[in-house]
Amino acid sequence: MSLGPCEIFEVGPRDGLQNEAREIPVSEKVALVDKLSGAGFVRIECASFVSPKWVPQMAGSGEVLAGIDRREGVRYAALTPNMRGYEDALAAGADEVAIFASASEGFSRKNINATIAESIERFAPILEDARHRDMPVRGYISCVVECPYDGAVAPASVASLADKLFAMGCYEISLGDTIGAGTPDSIARMLLAVRDAVPVGRLAGHYHDTNGRAMANIDTSLSLGVRVFDAAVGGLGGCPYAPGAKGNVATEAVNAHLLALGYETGIDQAVVEEAADLARSMR
Ligand code: HMG
Ligand code: MG
Repeated sequence: MSLGPCEIFEVGPRDGLQNEAREIPVSEKVALVDKLSGAGFVRIECASFVSPKWVPQMAGSGEVLAGIDRREGVRYAALTPNMRGYEDALAAGADEVAIFASASEGFSRKNINATIAESIERFAPILEDARHRDMPVRGYISCVVECPYDGAVAPASVASLADKLFAMGCYEISLGDTIGAGTPDSIARMLLAVRDAVPVGRLAGHYHDTNGRAMANIDTSLSLGVRVFDAAVGGLGGCPYAPGAKGNVATEAVNAHLLALGYETGIDQAVVEEAADLARSMR
């Protein structure tokens, strides 16, 4: 029996590769995105227009967007921390962009050199311009249960930030357990608070598997109505400004799990496995 649709948002080429120690040539990144495009994803995050001094791994993002074979029906997404990054993403032909805030002050400063309030001010003109162009903007919130600098994060803080980003025009809020500290209990408490602020159909779970609990956290999220999950092929990933943020939950494992439960993902498991082999060979 089908339990209905469930989407995997592929973030490997961005959240994965941004954290790899090896300098990965643009051609390899393009090959990975092109392989993923054939798997059935509707959205693939493959670029990040951040300062190359902060994240050198993403420096070739414009070339990646220029080099890929764009498949119809796939939206190629890019991370944008400020207007400069947003303008670069537009010029490079990104189909959607993502702003990224943190639910904790410590991570906000370390990751984007701004307080949470300052980051919202930086995002406002992006959302304003995007509204006029019909450019979809996704909103990430990091550290939704725990921050590597400030410790535990209150569900109410996440809910109020989600409320703000949604009201500013983000079409979806992706909730990041950046260091994989979440448990089914803490994820449930966080989601119950956020669901009161933003419709659950506009939420996504972005879980890192640092402590091996990402899949259990996905199960909890499913039971609370979340139907979009971010994942990185081959379990690539982490965040350079979150010590201990190892891999994102692996796409191939999430897809197999969702299909076994009876959800429809539209993702071809065989192609994802091939992409996972490719991703692992790039490390
Ligand atoms: P800053 O140093 O405060 O900014 O950085 P600034 O305005 O003083 O600029 C410093 C330099 O960067 C200047 O160059 C700017 O021109 C340049 P200089 O004059 O020194 O030669 N610059 C840029 N260059 C390219 N693209 C830009 C850009 N903006 C300024 N867009 C800034 C502030 C936000 C730029 C910096 O902190 C930054 O780039 N941070 C990004 C960090 C990052 O990418 N982290 C990983 C992604 S977040 C994540 O992974 C979490 C997530 O997966 C969810 C989860 O797991 O929780 C999304
Ligand atoms: Mg992440």
